[in-house]
Amino acid sequence: MNRRFSPGTALRGTLVPPADKSLSHRAALLGAMSATPVHVSNFLDAADTRSSLAAARALGARVEQRAGGLLISGPGLRGARPGVAIDVGNAGTLLRLLPGWLAGQPQGGRWSLDGDASIRRRPVDRVARPLREMGAELEAREGRFTPLEISARSLRGIEYVLPVASAQIKSCLLLAGLLADGTTTVVEPEPSRDHTERLLARAGAGISRDGDRITIGQREDLRLETIDVPGDPSSAAFLAAAAVLVPGSRLTITGMAANWTRVGFFHILERMGAGLTGTLERRETASADGEPLCELELAHGGPLVATRVTAEEVPLAIDELPLVALLGCFAEGETLVEGAQELRLKESDRIATVVDGLRGLGADIEATADGFAVRGAGGLRGGRLEAHGDHRLALLGAVAGLASREGVEVVGIEAAGVSYPGFVADLTALTR
Ligand code: S3P
Repeated sequence: MNRRFSPGTALRGTLVPPADKSLSHRAALLGAMSATPVHVSNFLDAADTRSSLAAARALGARVEQRAGGLLISGPGLRGARPGVAIDVGNAGTLLRLLPGWLAGQPQGGRWSLDGDASIRRRPVDRVARPLREMGAELEAREGRFTPLEISARSLRGIEYVLPVASAQIKSCLLLAGLLADGTTTVVEPEPSRDHTERLLARAGAGISRDGDRITIGQREDLRLETIDVPGDPSSAAFLAAAAVLVPGSRLTITGMAANWTRVGFFHILERMGAGLTGTLERRETASADGEPLCELELAHGGPLVATRVTAEEVPLAIDELPLVALLGCFAEGETLVEGAQELRLKESDRIATVVDGLRGLGADIEATADGFAVRGAGGLRGGRLEAHGDHRLALLGAVAGLASREGVEVVGIEAAGVSYPGFVADLTALTR
C-alpha cells in the first residue's frame, strides 16, 4: 500500500507514544517464565509483539485480557511446552531471545523457529555460537539462518565477551544463564539497552553489574507480579523529528521511557540545535530495576547543525539512526554516523536502504563501511521512498514527506504496523 505525506502542516499538541516494543517482547517472555501470574499494562498491540504473545501461548502460557492489561500465567522457567514450531514473524528480538530460554529446558524438548522473508536473512549464529559454548544444541540453515532447530540440553555458565554491542545477544545469554550451572558473565563492548537486566532484577534473579560485566546465576524460579510498559522512545523519535523539522510545530511527548540506554537520539537532537526540554534518565543515577518515564517538549526553532555520531553512542540510538540521516539533510555541514555496521543486519540493510531512499528524495548522502555521511543541502525535494518491508524505513519516508518541499509517497506504508500501527492516526490528530 502506498501513502503520500505532504509538506507543510505543523504538528501541535500532545503525543502519548505507543507502548515500547522492546519491553513488550520481554514482558511476553518473562511473563511466561514467571512462577507467578504477571499483569502487564500497556502491552504494545503491533505485529511484532503479537508474534511474542503467540510464542508465549504456543509454549504453554495462558494469556488473558483483563481490565487494564494482560494477565500472563506460566508455564514457568523450566516448563516451556516441547515440540512446537514457533513463527517469529518479523521479530528479530523474539528470534534472538527465545533460544536463550529454550536451549536449557529439561532434556527431550525440541523446538523450531522460523519467520518471514526478512527474518530468513537475519543471522542467528550470533546467539547460537555462545549458546553452544554453554552446551546447547542448535542447528541453523547454512549455520547462520532460520529455520533454527533447538534441542534442550543441560547448560553450563560461561564468560562471553560480546563481539558487538547487542542487547539481543546479551539478553539471550542472560536468560540461558538462569538455567545454566554456575554463573554466566556477559561483557559488553559498549552499553546497550538494559531492559532485560532491570526486569530480571525485579523478578528476583541474582544479577549484578560491575562496569561492562553483567553476571547472572542459576535460578529455581522467577517471580514478577506487574510489568508496566512505558511509551516507546524509538517510535516517539519519528514525530519528535517531524516537530523539529516542520515550521510552526510544538509538540509535547508524555509517558515515554526515559531509560538512558534508549534515549541517545534525543541527546543527538539537542546537539544538532533542536529546541528540547525535559528530564531524561542519567547514566550515573540510573535505576537498577525500574523504567522511569519522562515528558519532553519539542519545537521547530533555529537552524540545525551537523553532528558526528560515534561508536559508543550507536547502541543508545541504534533504531533512530535513519532519522539522524534525515536531520542531516536539513543541518548545516556534514553529519557523520560511524561504528554503525550493525545497521546492515536490521529488518533491511539500513545503511543501503536509508542512503538509497533519501538520495531518491534529493539528499546528498553516501554510504560508508560503517554508517553514512550526509551533507546538509537546506532540505529535501521529495519523491518516492520504498519501505522494503522495514517499519523504520516506512516511518522515515513519512517524516521526510512532512519536512520536504514536494512531499513523499511511501511505497509499503503498511510496514509501519510492525511497531507503530497508530502512526497515521497520531499524525492526523497532531496536524488537525
Ligand atoms: C533490541 C535491540 C536492538 C534493536 C532492536 C531491538 C532489543 O538490536 O535494534 O530493534 O529489544 O533488544 P541489537 O541488540 O541486536 O542491536
